Amino acid sequence: MTLRVRFYPDVHRGIREYLNKFMHGEILNIKNEALAQIMDAKDASELENLRVLYLGRQGKLNSLIKELKKLKTEDRKQIGTALNDAKNAIQDALTAQKQNIAAEYANKKEWFDLTIPGKSPVIGNLHAQTKVLSEILNIFTYLGYQVADGPDIETDYYNFEALNFPKDHPARDAQQTMFFDTSETNTKLGTYVPRTHTSAMQGRVMEKAKPPFRVVVPGRCFRYEQVDSAHGVEFWQVEGFMVDKNIRFTDLLGTIDYVLKSLFGQNTKIRFACTYFPFVEPGLDAYIECTVCKGKGCSFCKKTGWSEIMPAGMIHPNVLKKSGINPDEWNGFAFAIGLSRVVTLKYKIDDLRILHTPVARMLRQF
Ligand code: PHE
Repeated sequence: MTLRVRFYPDVHRGIREYLNKFMHGEILNIKNEALAQIMDAKDASELENLRVLYLGRQGKLNSLIKELKKLKTEDRKQIGTALNDAKNAIQDALTAQKQNIAAEYANKKEWFDLTIPGKSPVIGNLHAQTKVLSEILNIFTYLGYQVADGPDIETDYYNFEALNFPKDHPARDAQQTMFFDTSETNTKLGTYVPRTHTSAMQGRVMEKAKPPFRVVVPGRCFRYEQVDSAHGVEFWQVEGFMVDKNIRFTDLLGTIDYVLKSLFGQNTKIRFACTYFPFVEPGLDAYIECTVCKGKGCSFCKKTGWSEIMPAGMIHPNVLKKSGINPDEWNGFAFAIGLSRVVTLKYKIDDLRILHTPVARMLRQF
């Protein structure tokens, strides 16, 4: 049986109207759907995906444009305009949302979360020796001492002669002096030497200052030493001396006692022993109980339990005389603190060499 299709003009009109309406509805749907999705888009890549989905060559609007051919001319015009409007609306929405996202991002940059742990900046700290030095100087300024500074490179005169070390005297050997290997180091005051002790400042100060005075001199000293845990070729001392009238040996002992207890604590055990230096008479060595081993004996205190910390004595009259101070009128005492030694004892460092390592991690712990 053949199926004959009859042409009914009104039915045809109906299909045309239907198609027309359908296209309009479809365009509207696509437009609304696109606008809603664009407004929800969170970033630029999401927006680009939507652009391709709706406006791209294979996009939803284009597939409708392809349908236009099927329409009658008058319908094509209407639908074409609707498609164009939809395309413009989507395009505008994309541009607007792009700007919104950019603005939101810019605002976000100013926002920060207070609860996130921050990166703490690396702050430098004072070297252990600098700290201890300022502690020592505080103690002495409290006791009325002034702080003086002198040259690291000294002359034979101030390093030895002015301190009652006669030329070729065996006491010079005890200083393990290093000498420069050049002829230009000969001056009126003898050859230059890297100073072996800060006592070299005694002559420089006594020549100029009028007694009474109390002076401390922190500084670097150099000796030809066998380097080990308690000795170095370079070390620091804080020299101290005072000249006044009727100064007694007990004033010196009291000063040492006060200074060491201020530095190491009131319960610090201190002991004194006699010793010899050409520039003091009598001379003594002050020891404190080794803080590293608590007196038990370790490599740091050479297994004695005690650490030599402060050699001292009453200033020899010859020293005063050489600098133009009348020893019948004035007298005084002198002492030296082994600064590097104090640092190691205070922080219980069993090796002095650690203080000269440039490792920040090591130095930061003090
Ligand atoms: N200058 C001496 C030294 O370094 C120490 C000292 C200083 C001794 C002052 C007595 C008085 O060996």
